[in-house]
Amino acid sequence: MKSQMNAVRVHELGSPATLRYEETATPQPADDEVRVRIHAAGVNPAECGFREGISIDVPLIPEFITQYSKYLLARFGPLSLDFPWIPGWDVAGIIDEVGTDVSEFVPGDEVYGMTPFPGDGGAYAEAVTVPPAQLRPKPVSLSFEEAAGVPMAGGTAWRSLQMTGLESDQRVLVHAAAGGVGHFAVQFAKQRGAHVIGTASGSNEAYLRDLGVDEFVNYREERFEEVIEPVDVVIDLIGGDTFDRSLDVLKRGGVIDNFPLDASRKQKRAAEKRNIRVIQADSGDPAWLEDITELIDDGTVTPTLDTVFPLADARAAQELSEDGHARGKIILKMREGVGN
Ligand SMILES: NC(=O)c1ccc[n+]([C@@H]2O[C@H](COP(=O)([O-])OP(=O)(O)OC[C@H]3O[C@@H](n4cnc5c(N)ncnc54)[C@H](OP(=O)(O)O)[C@@H]3O)[C@@H](O)[C@H]2O)c1
Repeated sequence: MKSQMNAVRVHELGSPATLRYEETATPQPADDEVRVRIHAAGVNPAECGFREGISIDVPLIPEFITQYSKYLLARFGPLSLDFPWIPGWDVAGIIDEVGTDVSEFVPGDEVYGMTPFPGDGGAYAEAVTVPPAQLRPKPVSLSFEEAAGVPMAGGTAWRSLQMTGLESDQRVLVHAAAGGVGHFAVQFAKQRGAHVIGTASGSNEAYLRDLGVDEFVNYREERFEEVIEPVDVVIDLIGGDTFDRSLDVLKRGGVIDNFPLDASRKQKRAAEKRNIRVIQADSGDPAWLEDITELIDDGTVTPTLDTVFPLADARAAQELSEDGHARGKIILKMREGVGN
């Protein structure tokens, strides 16, 4: 690979306008790392949160502190970002160099996975170096773009269902069911045999029914707590008022996964009083990628792509993510016509 590569970098915290497409040095793998020639990268709300102001190197900028940055701060504490910083964790590509201590992969292997989170990011680029434990062979049935949409959102949904302990005879309510995490949660919950209720706007009803939801609630027209029967599990990807109202539909002994991590002490006490467990799933160790790969390659689970942008248009990709209405995943593609 050439000594220079294209990447998208953040030089200062702020809006998507701070993202710059430019040349930088191609990273060299350490002895215990591999280098992935990235074909596609996933876009997640996390990148926007980091770009907005989660850092100890510079003062936080109040106008850019959104709910998601608060979530990241609450979960990980202030992080140290070295500027210029390359955002992104989800990668799919081909290994082109391996460190001397690496035995898991050889150059030419097609892989997907996540650079360590919160760690250094690095996925919005033509290449990244990463410990091999973060990667698994790419599902053979997926293109690189599709594969890049899986790790962070799919892993979060997978861990959520593991941690809630959802079982086949149970009912689960998935809020934001058509989004990046939600559309995986719906498919994993169906695979577990659960009865799945999904919320989204009307334009996503046919999509979600096709994906397998047993009941659909249009959140713009109905209040879910008035139209559904009690559930055992809630995957709450919205938070705030949606958390409070979800307690009204949860059975005693139920569990709610509060993704935005915004539940106050008062809200948690209200849950406790009703004997409802509040958890926060994280994507953790990417060993679950093996289970997800199997479900993808046997046709049980399929990632949905909303839009694929060229790497140079990362700004537009993050603006779309921040708009909060993507169906499935937003992807950055590094090069045309390679490997897909
Ligand atoms: N991506 C990850 O890996 C990850 C990991 C941990 C935590 N989180 C957090 O989890 C949340 C969801 O992440 P994501 O990546 O799935 O987001 P996303 O892909 O941006 O979610 C977009 C979806 O949200 C739906 N939506 C928006 N407002 C809604 C409402 N009031 N009720 C129901 N659906 C609504 C939209 O459906 P309509 O267009 O039909 O409105 C759209 O399909 C975020 O708070 C994120 O910060 C994400």
